Amino acid sequence: MGITRTLDVDEILARQESGELKRHLRGRDLVGFGVGIIIGTGIFTLAGVEAKTHAGPAVTLSFVIGAVVAALAALCYAELASSVPTAGSAYTYAFATLGEVFAWVIGWDLLLEFALGAAVVSRGWSGYLANLLGLPSQWFGEDATVNVGAVAIIAVLTVVAVLGIRESAWLTNVLVVVKVSVCVLIVAVGAFFVRKANLVPFIPPAQPSGSDGGVLKQPVIQAGLGLSPSVYGFAGVVSAAAIVFFAYTGFEALANLGEETRNPRKDLRVGILGALAVCAVLYIAVSFVLTGMVPFTDIDAGAPLAAAFDSVGQHWIGALISVGAVTGLTSVMMVELVTIGRIGFAMGRDGLLPKRLGRTHPKWGTPHLMTIGGAVVIAVLAAFVPITELSDMVSIGALSAMIIVAIAVPVLRRKRPDLRRPFTVPFSPVVPIVAALACFYLMLNLDVLTWIRFAVWLALGLVIYFGYGRKHSRFATPTVAEPGPRS
Ligand code: ALA
Repeated sequence: MGITRTLDVDEILARQESGELKRHLRGRDLVGFGVGIIIGTGIFTLAGVEAKTHAGPAVTLSFVIGAVVAALAALCYAELASSVPTAGSAYTYAFATLGEVFAWVIGWDLLLEFALGAAVVSRGWSGYLANLLGLPSQWFGEDATVNVGAVAIIAVLTVVAVLGIRESAWLTNVLVVVKVSVCVLIVAVGAFFVRKANLVPFIPPAQPSGSDGGVLKQPVIQAGLGLSPSVYGFAGVVSAAAIVFFAYTGFEALANLGEETRNPRKDLRVGILGALAVCAVLYIAVSFVLTGMVPFTDIDAGAPLAAAFDSVGQHWIGALISVGAVTGLTSVMMVELVTIGRIGFAMGRDGLLPKRLGRTHPKWGTPHLMTIGGAVVIAVLAAFVPITELSDMVSIGALSAMIIVAIAVPVLRRKRPDLRRPFTVPFSPVVPIVAALACFYLMLNLDVLTWIRFAVWLALGLVIYFGYGRKHSRFATPTVAEPGPRS
């Protein structure tokens, strides 16, 4: 059937030298891009929500668990990204190791992650802006019929993304500095307001969840074991870890910039591991300070960090945090838009999406059609769909892609032991296998409804693959004068 045909690694390496995308980025820009896409709604909103609803003060522990899983996956990404630098990242790694249908699934999965992530964040951005400037909630809030603010920010950032990666990198770096400074300020000032009483007991005892969703809102692992729905306790901490994993998603986007990085073999691993380390430290510190400042039951679910400072009389810090959130969320959307363009570029190049989408603009050098097409879909979602629950979809999409990436590491080592690997995951295959299992375990802690939605998305993807991609894949069109598949 050809669905397991694979791409030749030498060909991937050769075509990344083609210069279709311009090489402007340095290691410093990559760390900026990484932090730019990683720090966002996860820490500004979800940390507080999850402390309140699932984990109590131990949400800090949830962030530690999330960091460990993300770090394991990041090691695998770093090996593949530095030895096979390419615009398609996980999509291309899967194509080179496991075969075309797996590559399609991952590409489809990543499009979900980044498009839905951008839509969620644009609505959050709109809400924070309304809060800051006193704008009408019927146009900017979650209850808006058409969320004008979300559509407007997506439109503006799409123009920047299409004009060129240099401009995107510059804007992202500026935004990142503001965002990181706000996080440092939260920790430095908030530390003076931490009260031990708020942190004890660190893991609140488990109790029945009492949520309306019943089994649909229960983690799959609990439902599978026939347990009754509960919150808090250790199970609550792990279930919060699966949800706040959203906060770590995004570092994978760096692996898409392999064809635009000056020295990808060195800069990519510095970028991926460096950005993740910076974010993990900030998240753990911020969530500890937040839960130390406010009893977890009193945390404000809408703007947890700003409200925590308001509650201790530090209103000016609350306002600064809102500015930081608006700024921080902007850079998350920026990098997500850039990444959607790169994934489309890679999938279009292989014919799995219409080839036109994969072309770069002659002047700007960016995959403009895919970026604009993705932005239209995001804007429609952001305008009309209340998406508060859908951040879980981003987590499940990212975790499943990470499983495939982890499996690809030992597969590629076996297939191509000769390949130059500037960075290697220690103790392979043990670490990649542990990484895959850890990601799967977190996925099992997401709720049943999220799994159902994800299964529907994958089924839709397979219909498109068998209806379009398989027939239009460049391996299916013998007229294309390029090397054929290996298997
Ligand atoms: N990691 C990003 C966030 O937390 C998506 O908003």
